[in-house]
Amino acid sequence: MRFTIEKHIVFLGLVVLFPLICTSQSTFKSSRATYYDSPDDYGNPRGACGFGEYGRTVNYGNVAGVSRLYRNGTGCGACYQVTCTNPRYCSYDGVNIVVTDYGQGDRTDFILSSRAYTKLAKPNMALELFALGVVDVEYRRISCKFSGYNLMFKVNENSRYPQYLAIIILYAEGQNDITAVELSQENDDEWKPMRKAFGAVFDFSNPPEGSISLRFQVKGSAGNTWVQSNNAIPSYWKPGAAYDSNIQLT
Ligand SMILES: *[C@@H]1O[C@H](CO)[C@@H](O)[C@H](O)[C@H]1NC(C)=O
Repeated sequence: MRFTIEKHIVFLGLVVLFPLICTSQSTFKSSRATYYDSPDDYGNPRGACGFGEYGRTVNYGNVAGVSRLYRNGTGCGACYQVTCTNPRYCSYDGVNIVVTDYGQGDRTDFILSSRAYTKLAKPNMALELFALGVVDVEYRRISCKFSGYNLMFKVNENSRYPQYLAIIILYAEGQNDITAVELSQENDDEWKPMRKAFGAVFDFSNPPEGSISLRFQVKGSAGNTWVQSNNAIPSYWKPGAAYDSNIQLT
């Protein structure tokens, strides 16, 4: 997985052009970040978003719990570039993380996996950062890039075939929020909203028989759009299985 890294540098001569060039670029905001311990420094598989194992390993475990950026679960799966600001200890590019959990710290926006926190540091400076415990950071939202993956969704393990279907969205590229999900029976044009259950999980009781089509409301830089995946879920869906939507968000 690869992220676009374009940290902005304000050259004197570019100050006038800056608003024109960077209209689609989010600027850095100041905050603080800390870290959490996990057995292998990967993410927490029981994170509030409901990602399960994906939340542990996505982006090589460079993940974070966030507080206000969680936005009641809508912020799950969003990507941020986080850099710490102490020039002695901190690397220039910092780390690109995926939001997988909710977490409040001492005036922090990010609680990073130890793996991600290590990446804030210059070579051989990680111990110093861990000793500080909390660091001043700058962050900005960036486009998620998951090379080789379409938008996928997983049928949650707590689903029960055939009467209770819960899904969670994986590998949403770009700077997009999935704000609603609807389903319909194959070859039927009647769309029914799924319920926002918790984190990034949407669910539905007594789903239609036969294969199920899904559509997702995507809120991105281009505004609100619906993207549709026909027969996204096979008739005999399985709890725990991930399905490819054939949709590529940008
Ligand atoms: C927050 O999300 C929960 C479920 O995830 C939902 O029940 C609740 O209505 C949401 N609250 C707001 C203010 O959107």
